[in-house]
Amino acid sequence: MKKKVLVTGGTGYIGSHTAVELIKEGFEVIIIDDLSNSQAEVLNGIEKISGVRPEFVQFNLCEEDKLTAFFEKHRDIDSIIHFAASKAVGESVEKPLLYYKNNVLSLVLLLEAMKKYNISNIVFSSSCTVYGQPDKLPVTEATPFKPAESPYGNTKQIGEEILRDTCKVNKDIQAISLRYFNPVGAHDSALIGELPNGVPANLVPFITQTAAGIRQQLMVFGNDYSTPDGSAMRDYIHVVDLAVAHVIALKRLIDKKQKNNYEFFNLGTGKGLTVLQLIQVFEKVNNLKLNYKVVDRRAGDVEKIYADTTLANKELGWETKLGVEEMMRSAWKWQQQLATKKV
Ligand code: UD1
Repeated sequence: MKKKVLVTGGTGYIGSHTAVELIKEGFEVIIIDDLSNSQAEVLNGIEKISGVRPEFVQFNLCEEDKLTAFFEKHRDIDSIIHFAASKAVGESVEKPLLYYKNNVLSLVLLLEAMKKYNISNIVFSSSCTVYGQPDKLPVTEATPFKPAESPYGNTKQIGEEILRDTCKVNKDIQAISLRYFNPVGAHDSALIGELPNGVPANLVPFITQTAAGIRQQLMVFGNDYSTPDGSAMRDYIHVVDLAVAHVIALKRLIDKKQKNNYEFFNLGTGKGLTVLQLIQVFEKVNNLKLNYKVVDRRAGDVEKIYADTTLANKELGWETKLGVEEMMRSAWKWQQQLATKKV
């Protein structure tokens, strides 16, 4: 029988790509999403690619009565991949309680439900933001956390601590936190991709919207960092490589291959790229010129961060397959598709 996986936030950017990879690997997917930052039409894209339309239930995980009713009805759920969360760093500074509620309370309620309904496995969306600006690069999983720069970052640190403490005393629960670096790009079919709400805060959607003429000009935040060209450096990872890593992590839990019942892994390519380098690749692979200008640094940005991926490579047997050209090509293809249809 197919194993049934609950994907919270499954209509979102990373969730939808992961749903596709799960279905491809023979899992049954059921999605909970409150559609606060995604659209139900994303299910059409998942269905077109995979041939299967996942079951979908719309509510916010903090609605405890609905969550209970959901698990009462779906007694056959084997595992959870928990993406549902708010993720805009700037907004989290303005609305900290929204972030603590959506990101922290939802995790607590899910873990309580896991205990009550005997669900053992959870993969958690974490972020390289837990490291802040590390003293040494690349960052390994042993790199200590720095005080969080934003409530959003704090919710990811707290989320990991909740999992660690819970796993310590509940040996039946097995968890893996995946610390994403900067996910970009889209599924090669251009049927799913990133769908930012309003003005994008992240770099790549802003680049593609500028190239499409939706935004007039991209602002490059800072050129006085200590990097080869002065712009900030990140480790960009193709969203499909990231999605595949979730399936591998989930199988590790199902197959009981963990070294202990709480583990965490960096997911990046291990290569740092500056904002200006990324723009150059975008221009080159898509044969166009981007209108951009350098402005002041953005508050709260770290200068440079990239992953040491040795642990994920070794323990998960996972490595990235898609390079930055593919990231930039697929991001642009997705943006062009968006212009021609309502998603
Ligand atoms: C941030 C968080 C990350 C989080 C993600 C979710 C940190 C260190 N990282 O990623 O954990 O998961 O948001 O949204 O808090 N840039 C421009 N112009 C723009 C937009 C961005 O130059 O219009 C630059 C930024 O200054 C940065 C790089 O592009 O150097 C990447 O920015 P972005 O895509 O927003 O991601 P992070 O800030 O790295």
